Amino acid sequence: MTQRIAVIPGDGIGTEVMPEGLRALEAAAKKFGIDLAFEHFDFACCDYYAKHGQMMPDDWFDQLKDFDAIFYGAVGWPDTVPDHVSLWGSLLQFRRQFDQYINLRPCKLLPGIKSPLADRKPGDIDFYVVRENTEGEYSSVGGKMFEGTDREVVIQETVMSRHGVDRVLKYAFDLAQSRPRKKLTSATKSNGIAITMPWWDERVEAMSGNYSDVSVDKFHIDILTANFVLHPDWFDVVVGSNLFGDILSDLGPACTGTIGVAPSANINPEGRFPSLFEPVHGSAPDIAGKGIANPIGQIWSGAMMLEHLGHAEAAKAIVDAFEAVLAEGDASLLTPDIRGQGTTETLGQAIAQRLAE
Ligand code: NAI
Ligand code: MG
Repeated sequence: MTQRIAVIPGDGIGTEVMPEGLRALEAAAKKFGIDLAFEHFDFACCDYYAKHGQMMPDDWFDQLKDFDAIFYGAVGWPDTVPDHVSLWGSLLQFRRQFDQYINLRPCKLLPGIKSPLADRKPGDIDFYVVRENTEGEYSSVGGKMFEGTDREVVIQETVMSRHGVDRVLKYAFDLAQSRPRKKLTSATKSNGIAITMPWWDERVEAMSGNYSDVSVDKFHIDILTANFVLHPDWFDVVVGSNLFGDILSDLGPACTGTIGVAPSANINPEGRFPSLFEPVHGSAPDIAGKGIANPIGQIWSGAMMLEHLGHAEAAKAIVDAFEAVLAEGDASLLTPDIRGQGTTETLGQAIAQRLAE
């Protein structure tokens, strides 16, 4: 069975790390006999905007909806297109229209990468953040009254639905159950946010009834952020609302070192629409064009995509390959952000070569 992948490099270093992401995928596909067909798209980037006055063609949804997955680089070029225009015109459209209601980020300290947290070594930090990606605090319900006067009032409502919350909790519990530690942590704030958050806690409690083998704890978001820094070894799967998940999904990977290695997935678990896999980082205009961007975030995103597509063994082989290259620590291959003198290509090639062995 051929699985069709839409490839969208985007802007800046997205165009530089994408070839290395594809190189690793091709090596894994060859080794494990996986039939992937890549199709390249030139939209959802600021060059497209310069030519067409919009980020994507009007029929983008129909062009992409039948793919098995979308492999994305990064979007944004603030010198020519304001960031809210490039982001809302591309990525956020995919997340919403393709109902990618799970945002998933692994937080794993890799060999050879220095954690900003003192004395942490590989094995100490290895957890996932699961963020609700469609509702919650990021709602369009609200408004302004008496704008510009001293009676000015602004309101933005949090919207949580049983449908929306239960489905993200189910995903998080399933993920916890699939992992050796089988532990789920819920981010709450039921002391201060006294309507939605106690209800969120109730939904966690109700869902936990279906997973007797998963241990559950919860923390208020304020102390939870502190514990990410103080005790990252406590966590296995952490689930949060859209806002709390947003914060945790930046903080978690930050605890594991360079942003250049962090991957992410935006998932529609039922597969009604394609899911999207992309590095956490943006287009990095400050280093774009120099060929020195770390490709591991893109390569790891590709591994997450393979796992989503049912190829767990191949996904693990990719992760093992870059971990081995990092552990060896040959500075002539590594990129400058991880104290090397190599390039995007030397690191990408070394990983693909390791995969082929
Ligand atoms: P950024 O992630 O592009 O860069 C932040 C810093 O990290 C920069 O100093 C950059 O050089 C460094 N960096 C990022 N990726 C790296 C890599 N692979 N290897 C080595 N160093 C790396 O974030 P920034 O500067 O805030 O945003 C730049 C543009 O990217 C903006 O237009 C922004 O909207 C967009 N952006 C897009 C995202 C996406 O496509 N999902 C996510 C974040 C930002
Ligand atoms: Mg964020």
